[in-house]
Amino acid sequence: MNPETINISLNRKMAGLSYPIIVGVNLMSESEKFLRKFITGKKVILIHDEVFLNKDGSYSKFTQFKTAIKKITSSIFLIGIAGGDGTKNINQLNFILEKCLSFEIDRDSLIIAFGGGVIGDISGFAASILLRGIDYIQIPTTLLAQVDSSVGGKTGINSDKSKNLIGSFHQPIAVIADINMLRSLPEREFRAGLVEVIKYGLIKDINFFKFLEKNYKDILNYDEFKLKYIVTRSCEIKSEIIKNDEKENGQRALLNLGHTFGHAIETFGKYDGTIIHGEAVSIGICLAFKLSRKMGICSQIETDRVIDLFNKLNLPISLKDIKNLSVTTSKMIEKFKYDKKNKNNRLTFILNKRIGESFIKKNMNMNVLTEFLDEET
Ligand code: GLY
Repeated sequence: MNPETINISLNRKMAGLSYPIIVGVNLMSESEKFLRKFITGKKVILIHDEVFLNKDGSYSKFTQFKTAIKKITSSIFLIGIAGGDGTKNINQLNFILEKCLSFEIDRDSLIIAFGGGVIGDISGFAASILLRGIDYIQIPTTLLAQVDSSVGGKTGINSDKSKNLIGSFHQPIAVIADINMLRSLPEREFRAGLVEVIKYGLIKDINFFKFLEKNYKDILNYDEFKLKYIVTRSCEIKSEIIKNDEKENGQRALLNLGHTFGHAIETFGKYDGTIIHGEAVSIGICLAFKLSRKMGICSQIETDRVIDLFNKLNLPISLKDIKNLSVTTSKMIEKFKYDKKNKNNRLTFILNKRIGESFIKKNMNMNVLTEFLDEET
């Protein structure tokens, strides 16, 4: 199966920027071919999830990858860190920064992030501030990272207040997504990653949503052809959206469908595994559709259809599905105050007119929102 390349081309005021996202099966064994032009002559800091040191799962893929880099440069340093949102914090960031500096990096040095969303986000952020910015490459190893977090240059860490509040926009110079990496992903992570895939259909592509409705069983059975298609299509849709809005002054906010609720829900889970990102966004998207329905914007039929797909994928669809979260309306609204989409203390939500058509709703009516949350919590 030949790899697909999606080119991210950003229309910037001064000078555009493009980089490739290469999606394929078994790419780790071929990574030398893709990486040579980016790495030759550079000092490489490979920041990876320490899980790849366990001699099971994706250990052999990681070893293949390291071997490929060593064929290009002898100057390679490794930093193994724990994944999981609980470690996406300032202490872990400081550890990475000090380690990189101890390797005597210069402005030509290159970071490679090999892991899921947390590894990619924190490594990208480190790259954006080390020596005022060095290059980095993303090797996303989870579905969520392949279809969302590795693409588009959002980097950062969590604050105690909420998710991703500290960070920067810093685009990678390349992304390589190997479908084969998904085989060793825990099933829960895989299902949770599918939420971000469905999100793209809901935002702007009804046909993609229909494809997912029809093919979800094959996808859950790791049909490589279909997996490659959904990762590629997700990256294409994301690239279309961010092309003209790299820094989220407008349409990029659509990618936040389900995330206003989702980030708040995740914070209640304290990142201890009670609820993981994709699960929180699954509930968040269902709430966004139900709120759209309540406001008379979206039909009940479409809302039910969306909830039905999440249900079939065995994902949580309501706050009541998660035990021990103790969410209340006032606690939710308190969390919403930290949402980056807000303007002048007024809340912004991403809602849907129908499947395949999201829109940005500014100045949310607080009475409607409160009544809605009272019903849902
Ligand atoms: N994950 C949403 C974005 O990249 O804008």
